[in-house]
Amino acid sequence: MTVPDDIRFMKILLNNGSKIPALGFGTLIPDPTETKKAVKAALEVGFRQFDCAERYRNEKEVGEAMKEALREGKIKREELFVGTKLWNNNHRPERVKPAFEASLKKLQLDYVDLYLIHTPFAFKPGEEQDPRDENGKVIYDEGVTLSDTWRALENLVDQGRCKAIGLSDTGLEKVEEIFESARIKPAVVHVESHPYLPQWDLLDFCKKKGIVLQAFAPLGHGIEPKLMEDPVITTISKRLKKTPAQVLLAWALQRGTAPITTSKNPTRIKENFDVSALPEDAMKEIREGIKTQYRYNPVTETGIPGFIPKGK
Ligand SMILES: NC(=O)c1ccc[n+]([C@@H]2O[C@H](COP(=O)([O-])OP(=O)(O)OC[C@H]3O[C@@H](n4cnc5c(N)ncnc54)[C@H](OP(=O)(O)O)[C@@H]3O)[C@@H](O)[C@H]2O)c1
Repeated sequence: MTVPDDIRFMKILLNNGSKIPALGFGTLIPDPTETKKAVKAALEVGFRQFDCAERYRNEKEVGEAMKEALREGKIKREELFVGTKLWNNNHRPERVKPAFEASLKKLQLDYVDLYLIHTPFAFKPGEEQDPRDENGKVIYDEGVTLSDTWRALENLVDQGRCKAIGLSDTGLEKVEEIFESARIKPAVVHVESHPYLPQWDLLDFCKKKGIVLQAFAPLGHGIEPKLMEDPVITTISKRLKKTPAQVLLAWALQRGTAPITTSKNPTRIKENFDVSALPEDAMKEIREGIKTQYRYNPVTETGIPGFIPKGK
């Protein structure tokens, strides 16, 4: 692929004909006040792609921040790419549209650019996002399949208020399964991905099928084992006079994924948008020199969110 010099403004074509700004800002920020401030700061420095979710319980604050920027005339709606996600307790087809409408209302938007099924795990239908039995075990819903839920998302696209649909926290097998059976093919697959979990097979499949791989936790979520302190990354960062975060985000963009990063800190938010291309040798050093393999978020095994604090 050809990599433009100004990779922070790079856009990737989706299978519905629209384009997604590749460098995205995630809104998994537990405190609502901090969420609003962070989204405003992200808009200010230039982020145009936002990843939201009903499970983050802050779509209202994200919506307020976007509304203020739109009202001030700084940004037009069509310049923004906003995605949100359906949570596990809403997988039953009859629950999909109400959940979608509730997200739109909180985000104060007429449409979203992307709607994802947050995880392939269906939980007991109802208002409880984290339904548990008397032993504290999650109550799953065996009465609905991922294909049933997918068909309900296809109907949302038909109704015009959701431009593209996709999957999240799914492995290659499930992506293939839905891809084969879908009337409207997934436009995006949203998974954890970084040099400790590059997911090359999934990325190859996505590229062949025209699906964009959105990569969450591109900086390793800032937790142990610290990806930003990996010697391969810090060596490149010193040599190129970029921060480790900028090296990791450039790597993610140049390999053709759409990374979604998050920060509550205005200086880091600015730093994370100030990304420029890496030379080919640095790309190669990261791919071949890093041997650590690590998944930070166990959500793919159970559907229980790994990064959302208990009680949220
Ligand atoms: N589908 C899913 O299941 C799922 C799961 C997880 C995440 N996501 C999405 O992906 C987004 C990003 O995930 P993530 O939070 O793991 O991303 P990340 O960007 O890998 O990690 C964010 C962490 O790194 C720190 N950080 C950010 N920029 C930094 C910098 N320049 N230097 C040093 N530290 C920095 C942040 O702390 P400060 O805030 O203190 O800067 C924060 O603790 C989420 O917001 C969410 O939208 C989706």
